[in-house]
Amino acid sequence: MKIYEAIKVDHDIQRGLCDKIVKTSGASEERKKLWVELKKELEVHAVAEERYFYSPLIDTDKMQEDARHGMAEHHEMDELIQELDDTDMTSPQWLATVLKLVEKVNHHLKDEEKDFFKKAKDVYTEDEEAALAKDYKDTMREYRKTWPESIPGNN
Ligand SMILES: [Fe+2]
Ligand SMILES: [Fe+2]
Repeated sequence: MKIYEAIKVDHDIQRGLCDKIVKTSGASEERKKLWVELKKELEVHAVAEERYFYSPLIDTDKMQEDARHGMAEHHEMDELIQELDDTDMTSPQWLATVLKLVEKVNHHLKDEEKDFFKKAKDVYTEDEEAALAKDYKDTMREYRKTWPESIPGNN
């Protein structure tokens, strides 16, 4: 498996959670459960993806700007996650903000899958693509297990 496929598997998980959470209401058990899941998936993925997809690209002429752009969007998502945690789940504001987050996530995943992956294929060798996939998946597994403590800055 290459890094792009490994990431795509987790993007699909995120998209599934996004589709479900926008249909929830109030402080229902369903919404609470989905919010924890989505937050975990987004946080763990951002760390592992920055490490095993973006970081090596930062030093390349071809992809430096894209890598910076992608990581800046991770930061914007972090801020929306923080805002949601600070907002009463029963308020209309919470749904409005989660819709903003979902829109941002969908846009970001599209950038990565339709644009960045294509360009990265000219940068990474096949061996690198496979090694990055393995490291990415190992990190996801470890970090999911120990989330939220696994995220730098979360403890
Ligand atoms: Fe990303
Ligand atoms: Fe991603």
